Amino acid sequence: MKKILVTGGLGYIGSHTVVELINAGFEPVIIDNLSNSSLDVLQRIEKITDKRIQFEKFDLRVKNDVTDFFRENKDIEGIIHFAASKAVEESVRNPLLYYENNLHTLIYLLQECQNNGIENFIFSSSCTVYGEPDSLPITESASVKEATSPYGNTKQISEEILRDTCAVTSLKSIALRYFNPIGAHETAEIGELPIGVPQNLVPFITQTAAGVRDILSVFGADYDTDDGSCIRDYIHVVDLAKAHVVALQRLVDNKNVSNYEVFNLGTGRGSSVLEVVNAFQQTTGVKLNYKIVGRRPGDVVAVYADTQKANEELGWKAERSMEEALLSAWKWEKKIREL
Ligand code: UD1
Repeated sequence: MKKILVTGGLGYIGSHTVVELINAGFEPVIIDNLSNSSLDVLQRIEKITDKRIQFEKFDLRVKNDVTDFFRENKDIEGIIHFAASKAVEESVRNPLLYYENNLHTLIYLLQECQNNGIENFIFSSSCTVYGEPDSLPITESASVKEATSPYGNTKQISEEILRDTCAVTSLKSIALRYFNPIGAHETAEIGELPIGVPQNLVPFITQTAAGVRDILSVFGADYDTDDGSCIRDYIHVVDLAKAHVVALQRLVDNKNVSNYEVFNLGTGRGSSVLEVVNAFQQTTGVKLNYKIVGRRPGDVVAVYADTQKANEELGWKAERSMEEALLSAWKWEKKIREL
């Protein structure tokens, strides 16, 4: 069994990916500093998969700890690197936290890849690198726009670090540009656990439906779209997790066409905020309290993926529907609130 290091493996996307890695016969090893996750998640993954998982709690910003880990774990064959900060607004308030946390950790890991002959590296990137796109759907060759937040900038710089490193070392890397991940595992054992007030749409919807929040604010209904609200490409987190396994297998099998590759991970379908609200009400039968308010600064009008490259070259396609994703998110919310 190939040992794969999953950094941030107890986080939202990381935990779902660990489950899929085990399903595919890999042996994941998790590093997580628990800054935005909890140890319960480990037990829950073990419950779903019926496997014991090696877990190390430390912060990847501490270089000596990173070096010690690789000294003690000589058999790592690949890395899936999720560990990073991801709140856009927080990154504007505290840019140095974001540059340190998202860039130092990547550099330390890549240095260890070089020192230890690890050649397979999957990176969590984001559709945020495209900014407000010139045309839709967005292909991977669309230009990368000037970042509108330090968070977005860390994703752009990280991609450049990977590209430059792959050009001169034996490293093979795939950057996966996520669109908007939503939903939870079908068992409702793992899902998204936002700390404090959720910034993202679907956790805000499910918390409002559960009575944790009074009302959902829809940020703007005066955009140039059919119903006036913003359009995004919402992808089920389990589909997203499976894409990581496919990408890793591609590198392990040397099927990559260049040492640094980029793929969009989305469904190819754009849905407006109001469509998501309506879909939630229809599939769950729960009435949502919501109001339309002003635009949120920094939001782009519409983004959705061209999925052709991921479908044809990677051989992966999102299979789950919006309804399935919303139902799973609701099942998860009800379980954690004991409703
Ligand atoms: C943003 C980032 C994305 C990042 C993600 C991480 C951009 C363009 N996107 O996604 O790169 O990975 O955060 O958290 O920087 N909405 C409401 N009410 C709410 C919450 C959201 O109407 O209470 C609307 C937003 O205005 C937006 C849509 O829902 O139109 C999705 O918002 P959100 O879930 O926050 O994701 P993004 O902003 O698309």
